[in-house]
Amino acid sequence: MKRLVVVGTQWGDEGKGKITDFLAQEADVVCRYQGGNNAGHTVIIDGVKHSLHLLPSGILNPNILNVMANGMVINPEAFYQEISQFNDFKLVISDRAHVVLPYHLEYDKASEHQKGDQKIGTTHKGIGPAYRDKASRVGMRVSTFVHPTRMKEKLLSLIEDANRELYGMGLGNLDFQSIYQNYQKYADFMRPYVADTSIVLNDMIKEDKKILFEGAQGVLLCLDHGTYPYVTSSSPTAASVPLNTGIAPWLVEGAVGVTKAYTTRVGSGPMPSEIHSSLADDIRIKGKEFGTTTGRPRRIGWIDTVILNHSKRVSGLTGIAMTLLDVLSGVDTLNICVSYTLDGKEIHSIPADIQDFERCTPNYITMPGWHEDITGVKHFDELPLNCKNYMEKIESLIDTKIVMFSVGPDRHQTIMKERVF
Ligand code: IMP
Repeated sequence: MKRLVVVGTQWGDEGKGKITDFLAQEADVVCRYQGGNNAGHTVIIDGVKHSLHLLPSGILNPNILNVMANGMVINPEAFYQEISQFNDFKLVISDRAHVVLPYHLEYDKASEHQKGDQKIGTTHKGIGPAYRDKASRVGMRVSTFVHPTRMKEKLLSLIEDANRELYGMGLGNLDFQSIYQNYQKYADFMRPYVADTSIVLNDMIKEDKKILFEGAQGVLLCLDHGTYPYVTSSSPTAASVPLNTGIAPWLVEGAVGVTKAYTTRVGSGPMPSEIHSSLADDIRIKGKEFGTTTGRPRRIGWIDTVILNHSKRVSGLTGIAMTLLDVLSGVDTLNICVSYTLDGKEIHSIPADIQDFERCTPNYITMPGWHEDITGVKHFDELPLNCKNYMEKIESLIDTKIVMFSVGPDRHQTIMKERVF
């Protein structure tokens, strides 16, 4: 496959950065197509940890062209800080992506605060409010942001409107002059990277280049197909790639669904297979399950094949990359959630209404675990029998092959079972 999407199949944090980084060794282009710096991708190369929030995971490789496509929302200050860590890279930013401005962060925090117990548990990065402005047709595109004269006028009118809204929420005033001074600096910095990335990507396709599309978050956080309203404000699914990048739908050739060997979730919302015993703490510590962006402890659950089947269907997964298998070493018995019970009936799909989903209880099958340390494994055949059985059971429950898996955080701990790219 020459054009492959890497998509999270759960609630984000599945290890997409690591899988993208691994596959990117073969890629000419890595393209992020949605979200902003709410994402957190950790890539470890030769023991050195790199935390990426906005930048595509190919940024560490000077031969790869990195694309930040039109579906993204970009915080210029965060961009400036993140890119300053790197010297040798190739990058283009879509002139149609939208800009996250300081008041988006204020709204995000204030609206979460107002929701009280019903809060979404957002990352407070202003992502939802930036997409709200885009959908309301008042947002600022990157093309305006980097324009030598038009940015000032647009920013002034946006800040005046924002101040009126913030005042209504009992919040303080934003100072246009100081924001403008800083943002002018960020705009100058961003300008050389800005292009029509739909043209760039389509030119690359004509040249037969290999492109990896890197999803942020996970399918269950999708605005359309996720556990609404406890979702992000964009669509991480493979189906959103054409719209969010400006390539034809039929040019996407496949999608690898990155799946943790168990489940995690940050933020609020239902999670039927959540583990409430001390095992959750053990897995959290062993798997370092704390948010890359917010540092929040992640909720831990058993793997849930209802969710995986849902992600497979709405994202057209052609293979699974299973991550963090090593974290399950030492767990005596493993549960796999295969269906839910709702109002006394067994169901195999996720109800649309969040209140129904909250009432779902999980039905499990159990499998014996393994105790061996698998972090040095280099080939599927070297895995303990119970680990292979666990993986094969999941493959059969979701009728999709595990094409690669990882047994530790480093690049060399990712193992390809089948060549997909
Ligand atoms: P927002 O994207 O900041 O608006 O947050 C909405 C929901 O998506 C919250 O539950 C966040 O915790 C979750 N979320 C956003 N980005 C990520 C991510 O990269 N990993 C995991 N959860 C995320």
